[in-house]
Amino acid sequence: MKHTKVKDLLASTTTLQEVNAKGWVRTFRNNQFIALNDGSTINNIQCVVDFENTPDEILKRITTGAAVSVTGTLVPSKGAGQSFEIQVSKLDILGDSDPEKFPMQPKKHSLEFLRENAHLRVRTNAFGAIMRVRSVLSFAVHSYFQEKGFVYVTTPIITGADAEGAGEMFQVTSLPIDNLPKNEEGEIDYKKDFFGKHTNLTVSGQLEGETFAMALGQIYTFGPTFRAENSNTSRHLAEFWMIEPEVAFNDLDANMDLAEDFIQYVIKYAMDKCPEDLKFLESRLLDEEKSKPQAERSEMTLLEKLNFVLENNFKRVSYTEAIDILRDSTPNKKKKFNYIINEWGADLQSEHERYLVEKHFKCPVILFDYPANIKAFYMRLNDNTEPGKETVRAMDILFPGIGEIVGGSQREERLDVLVEKMKAIGIDEKELSWYLDTRRFGSAVHSGFGLGFERLVLFVTGMTNIRDVIPFPRTPGNAEF
Ligand code: 4AD
Ligand code: MG
Repeated sequence: MKHTKVKDLLASTTTLQEVNAKGWVRTFRNNQFIALNDGSTINNIQCVVDFENTPDEILKRITTGAAVSVTGTLVPSKGAGQSFEIQVSKLDILGDSDPEKFPMQPKKHSLEFLRENAHLRVRTNAFGAIMRVRSVLSFAVHSYFQEKGFVYVTTPIITGADAEGAGEMFQVTSLPIDNLPKNEEGEIDYKKDFFGKHTNLTVSGQLEGETFAMALGQIYTFGPTFRAENSNTSRHLAEFWMIEPEVAFNDLDANMDLAEDFIQYVIKYAMDKCPEDLKFLESRLLDEEKSKPQAERSEMTLLEKLNFVLENNFKRVSYTEAIDILRDSTPNKKKKFNYIINEWGADLQSEHERYLVEKHFKCPVILFDYPANIKAFYMRLNDNTEPGKETVRAMDILFPGIGEIVGGSQREERLDVLVEKMKAIGIDEKELSWYLDTRRFGSAVHSGFGLGFERLVLFVTGMTNIRDVIPFPRTPGNAEF
């Protein structure tokens, strides 16, 4: 007999004579009530076992974590908390779970403990909900861009380019690391490596994406990216997923409009498709915050926060205005920031970004027109900027509780300006000659941005550590599973 998903059983409107459900036991109460979950929904279905007619050996094997198959009648439930339940006529244990050994017991586990058991944590309510929301959000990403006629481009994962010029790359090699071939100068001979050159895992698909935008008009990428930055924070992963749209003929304003519209669409999509999971995550967050002092608790519930983003425009503020605000802010004057803002040109730390979003503007903020020397080489130099105070057409979107969620820019479309910039910071023109072809042949204004997918999932689920919104996190010192 084919089993029916718990989600569909719970949505039934009538009694059904014979149904079969398969799933994992969450709890077993009074030798009678199984709370069964199969991952199709946050909700369990109650299965009432006829314990008087079930052998003791079977009853003993109905333990938390065991896989079972139950057949019976779906009837309106007399108990509170569920609409329908299964009166079990036949129960099979598919796979036992030793209650002495199964780590996911029905009690509150710390997030740290759950991270160490990432292969089993998905069997908890919270992680089931997070992973379903993550899945729906990734579909929403495709849905948004496909509806708008963007072309999905898969950019290479192994590449020779350092798109961000930040040097935070994982090297890819098939050379024997204990016996490296050397050239005449005594340097490692990468000509003997697999690709005949030095290669690394991609930090961004942007440069390849730009070449496609300059032919297909509007493109987006959605793939894994890798950064060997030694940032042990709650917002950094060494392997994360990024969405990078790139649009020919868009200037920075159009780029900001696109980013804002996109973020609002995917959040709305998740709210429409995952109401129960989000409701659960909202109460999880309320619960978690009860242990915090009043001042550190959020002013809004999770769903209020999500609605707020849908209903309010993001505040657009230039870097220069932001520096003025930060310089005059109380934490700056009282030296409460770890990095005190004295001068124009300072790079913003996450404490500053969060001050702007959470304390000053109290809404998502788009900062634009950053100093040229704190941003990547490919960004469009602003016309009419003072020498020594050059700015680029960059934009970062800052979110409450998250900090930077999007980084993007209008690209430098002028070949001579771009080449000069690359020379000044020591990027090999020959290595990126293919990229410069976009500027040699039919160059045009174009813009794009990158959204860190896990940071979006963090925001939507109300989780606070990025390690809890990706199935198997990779961070410095951790590549378990
Ligand atoms: O600001 P970033 O470095 O920008 C780029 O990579 C550009 N090539 C994007 C573009 O214009 N096409 O990264 C973009 C976003 C950040 O805003 C952040 O959300 C996320 O990627 N991100 C990370 N997420 C998790 N862990 C990390 N280590 C991240 N580094 C960046
Ligand atoms: Mg950035």
